[in-house]
Amino acid sequence: MKTILTNKISQAAAFIKKGEVCAFPTETVWGLGANAYDEKAVRRIFKAKGRPGDNPLIVHISSKKDIKVLASDITDTAKKIIKQFFPGPVTVILKKNEIVPDIVTAGLDTIAIRMPSLKLTRDFIKSCGVPVAAPSANISGSPSPTSFIHVLQDFEGKIPCLLIGPDAKYGLESTVIDCTVEPAVVLRPGVVTIEELRKIDKRINLAIKTAKVKSPGQKYRHYAPSAQVRIISDFKLSYWTPLEQFADSKAKAYIGLKNLPKKYHGKFVRYYVAGNIEDYARKLFAFFRMCDSMGIKTIYAGTVPEKGIGTAIMNRLRKTLTL
Ligand code: TXA
Ligand code: MG
Repeated sequence: MKTILTNKISQAAAFIKKGEVCAFPTETVWGLGANAYDEKAVRRIFKAKGRPGDNPLIVHISSKKDIKVLASDITDTAKKIIKQFFPGPVTVILKKNEIVPDIVTAGLDTIAIRMPSLKLTRDFIKSCGVPVAAPSANISGSPSPTSFIHVLQDFEGKIPCLLIGPDAKYGLESTVIDCTVEPAVVLRPGVVTIEELRKIDKRINLAIKTAKVKSPGQKYRHYAPSAQVRIISDFKLSYWTPLEQFADSKAKAYIGLKNLPKKYHGKFVRYYVAGNIEDYARKLFAFFRMCDSMGIKTIYAGTVPEKGIGTAIMNRLRKTLTL
């Protein structure tokens, strides 16, 4: 299959209209979309990604009017979140309407809805004429794509179309908030922070791990490069192993907010000190992918305080560790 790269919205939307999949940019990460009302088309997404069928997709919309077509029982908290953060890097979980095929929501009676802030994305969805179901446009388990190059790394020759667009502004997937429970709970932290959400309802919190996995995606190892990731805090490895112990291998990289002591610099093939927390978030997945393409075996990632966007960064770093 030839993958057509286009910057024409109408050309990309034509693929969605005829029941094919198409990759598209958003402000968070790239998505791999299909007509949310077309079961066969949505099945193509799962197949292309190798995504487990029990992991539901986010439905992307171009207008707030679409929300009540897709969902019901829209709670006051949901209304406030939508009012303040749509369009933006946030996804709300609501009670699903009949119109949405079960394959999209993996059989759940709830639906994840997001209205992207990148205007190009909204114009694309509008041109499709239907809501667009889409997970991140990466092979299941690999880091989410933040540039169209990453989408091609995973899907060249495997999907019919890719809509070209700018590199992701945020670089981490949207904040997912379950609004079907009282108080609403954050299932996946993102750049819309828990602190901001608490201004809407101060009881909002990050979901704690319970026996029942509320967001099915959270049980899979995600965002992970092939390289081993080690989280380092205050220039020490997690579990407080001294960094020197790993000085033998050359195949190492570092990403973090802090500049390590100079004596360590030469030990890394790639060394990136992020300018600020937003920059760290934006570059993290691209850094993982670059390290993999260079055959780097170990990536040392610096911790950040667990507040604001730092909560999302630490969440993604930890997910690379659990297999
Ligand atoms: O920023 C984003 O959210 C990107 C762009 C493309 O919009 N999309 C994305 O999709 O990250 P995906 O499929 O990689 O992650 C969606 C997450 C998964 O963890 C999934 O389990 C969860 O949202 N999810 C989807 N529907 C759900 C539902 N009804 N209830 C609970 N969790 C749900
Ligand atoms: Mg994903």
